[in-house]
Amino acid sequence: MNDVDLWRILQLRETVRWSGDPRAFELLRGMDEARWAVAEDGSDGRVVGMVGAMPLGKVGILCHLAVHGGYRGRGLGARLTSWAVSYLLSRGVEVVRLDSTRAAEGLYRSMGFEPVLGRTEYRLEGGVLAARLRGDRHFFVAGVGEDKALRVTPLSFGDLPELYGVDLWSYGADRSALIMATLRRYPGWGLVARDASGRIKGYLVRSASGATVRVGPFMTSSPDVARALLIRALQTDGGRSVEISLPAPKGSPAHELLCEFGFVGRRDRLRMELGEASTPEGLQTYGTTPYLAT
Ligand SMILES: CC(C)(COP(=O)(O)OP(=O)(O)OC[C@H]1O[C@@H](n2cnc3c(N)ncnc32)[C@H](O)[C@@H]1OP(=O)(O)O)[C@@H](O)C(=O)NCCC(=O)NCCS
Repeated sequence: MNDVDLWRILQLRETVRWSGDPRAFELLRGMDEARWAVAEDGSDGRVVGMVGAMPLGKVGILCHLAVHGGYRGRGLGARLTSWAVSYLLSRGVEVVRLDSTRAAEGLYRSMGFEPVLGRTEYRLEGGVLAARLRGDRHFFVAGVGEDKALRVTPLSFGDLPELYGVDLWSYGADRSALIMATLRRYPGWGLVARDASGRIKGYLVRSASGATVRVGPFMTSSPDVARALLIRALQTDGGRSVEISLPAPKGSPAHELLCEFGFVGRRDRLRMELGEASTPEGLQTYGTTPYLAT
């Protein structure tokens, strides 16, 4: 995909519904080694399909696969997927990961991808949050004060080298470029929690999608740390609606915590992988990056 293609993919962008925040696409395009490919109709040069591929160390993300309605069922999706997989493997990736729509599940399965877990989209409506902030101050104050030794502060660029290490250890892929790109766009929108000895116990990064605040990545060592970070974030955001995308198995404490705050969940995509991912240690996922399957 070259610069000239950018305006030609607008219709496809709507198909995959990331037209909601055009800046997110710019953010991803700015990342080193991220590549997109387009499929053209040879007769008139029209762009009829596209796919993105983003290597993050051992894990590579396949994203934004879309084929124009009139061109589906002819193997274009499979060819674009193969292109993305080959590119990622050429960059040393061991596992290709994606969050599949229902429409694409069969295609990915036929190419060897296996389901890993479901993703839930959580949303807290601005009005609900505003009422809660006004009427339930105790919850918001008590939550922060629960662990006196925990310090929640805005994430500064000085925190990043340490945070990148913790994130790699906890997530298993190198998201440093993505985190940096998000913070550059939303300076001061990150939070970090440290214990009495100064060790990182959790962090979250926020960004905006229209009038909605998106939280993620959001990683913590325990539900209590997650609660403290989330309370701080929600206080800052006032009454705006907040969304968190959570790839986590049923019964994981993250689901319970988000429901406690009044978030309403909707199962959307299926995380699928090609290759064997190692199970990372470290912090737990309470929210993924809002831009792609990371
Ligand atoms: C998902 C999507 C990209 C698939 O694109 P596509 O070009 O139709 O994909 P393919 O043609 O390679 O495969 C689609 C199906 O056609 C079948 N097929 C492929 N070539 C075929 C052929 N020559 N003859 C008959 N069937 C064929 C495939 O087996 C596949 O079967 P499935 O329905 O069981 O999955 C497309 O439907 C789309 O853009 N959907 C909306 C956006 C979206 O959901 N993107 C996925 C994001 S994760």
